[in-house]
Formats: sequence, structure tokens, C-alpha cells
Amino acid sequence: MSSATDSENDDAGPRGEASPGTGQLPIIRVLTLFPEMVRAVLATSIPGRAERQGQVRYEVTDIRDFAVDKHRTVDDTAYGGGAGMIMMAPPVVEAVEKVRERDDATVILTTPQGETFSEELTLELLEDLRAKGELILVCGRYKGIDERARELVVTREVSIGDYVLSGGELPALVVVDAIVRRLPGVLHDEDSAANDSFTADRDGGLDCAWYTKPPVYRGLGVPEVLMSGHHANIEKWRRQQSVERTRQRRPDLAQGLDRGEAEGKGGGRKPRQDRNRRTR
Ligand code: ADE
Repeated sequence: MSSATDSENDDAGPRGEASPGTGQLPIIRVLTLFPEMVRAVLATSIPGRAERQGQVRYEVTDIRDFAVDKHRTVDDTAYGGGAGMIMMAPPVVEAVEKVRERDDATVILTTPQGETFSEELTLELLEDLRAKGELILVCGRYKGIDERARELVVTREVSIGDYVLSGGELPALVVVDAIVRRLPGVLHDEDSAANDSFTADRDGGLDCAWYTKPPVYRGLGVPEVLMSGHHANIEKWRRQQSVERTRQRRPDLAQGLDRGEAEGKGGGRKPRQDRNRRTR
């Protein structure tokens, strides 16, 4: 690859809202040692559609293009010894400073040591992207990055969970996907996020069970209420399902449900109704 950065919006459709202050589409910049891996995912499914429809732009930068020696070295052994290679500060810092348009841009490093990613953080970063028009993600690799790069250019650190992956690319893609699907107009009715797990519609709880055709599969039917056409009953059933699942699977999220019930959204502890009926 010859160029340090690229943007994949050549086939963009009608443009979305311009970002306040910039007059431009919001742009998400990803800095990585594996640009092809990142580009492939960002061109696919909903993240790809978001860019093609003109709601966001992606710019993927190869950190190796900012190596300062002729061997394009980006990592080295740790001072003081120890196993594992450390990402050098200069390529990371130079890359961020080259691509960053705003001095106050949020620069996220994906690392197991970061704050845990969540729906709440998704909405916060979405607002940050909307307000500044720019969001930068740096994908860590190897054992980590030189602490001076963190000090100089990283403003926030995000982890996607308490496990260690081979690099920060998958976590960065998780973060980008979660954000762009919440941009207005990206999701169509058929993949609406309104009542997904963790949303306000679910009082922060889990989504309910869903069924589609065929009506009977390997002897398993569909709960009758869903075939009844009675929308109020269906809504009530789904709400009960969501509450029950949350209490069973994620009691740590049940606080929001109690608030929802107090506000009269219904639900409550009901006998399990999510077992598929055997029809033969
Ligand atoms: N890099 C390696 N593991 C990670 C994780 N769990 N979250 C974010 N970045 C990472």
C-alpha cells in the first residue's frame, strides 16, 4: 500500500447531516498495523452501509507508514527486560498528529486496561463524534504501547471485556460498529435498535425472545400470543419476557427494570412463558 491513509466513501449515496462546526460528514479514523483487516470489516454490513449512505466516513491509517527507520520498525523489546514486544511511541504519535484535524479530538486506545465498553459509552462517543465531527481509534498490538504515546496523544482507553485479544483491531471495530449503527438513518425499520438489549426501551435490560417462519420447526411451535394479532398482548408478553430474561441471566441489570415497573411499564415476575411448545 503506497498511501498512509485512505477513505472509502467513493460510492457514497445521498449525504447525511453535516457535522456541526466542520461542515463535513463525521469521520472515524482508525490507526492500525493491520489496515486491510479493518477496511474489510468497515466495508461490510451496517458499518459499510453507513458510509455508502453518507452518514459517516472512515479513514484507515497504517501506523507502519510512520515508522522512523528504513526497516519500518514499529515495535521493540521492553526497557528493563521482560517477554513481549512494545509498540514504539514515535510511529503512533506521528500518525495521530498527522491525521488529527482537531487538537481536542478524542483519541481512543483499545486496550484491556481501558474502561469497559458499554451502551452508555457508545452513546457518549456517538455524541462526541456528532459534536466534534471526528473520532480517532488507535489499535494497540503486541504487549502494549510505549507509555509516552499514551501520555502524548491518547485521551481515552477502552476495553471490550476482561480477556486479552491478539490486538486492538477487533475491539476498535466493535466500538465503531456500536457507534455507527446508532447514527440517525443508518438502521432501517427491519433492523431497528430501539428495543435492543440495554436500551432505554428495555430499561437497560435484555431483549425478549423472537420467532419467525416457519410456524413449526422440528416439533417446536411459536408462543400462541405471537400468532394472535393482538398487539397489546404481544407487547405485554415481550415486556414480560425481557424482564424475566434479565432477572434470570443478568440480575446486575435488574435495577432499571424495577424503575420501569414503578413507572407502570408492566412486566413483573410472571411464570416462564418462553418455552417453545411441542406441537407433536
Ligand atoms: N486488546 C487486547 N485485548 C483487548 C480487549 N479486551 N479490549 C480492548 N483492547 C484489547
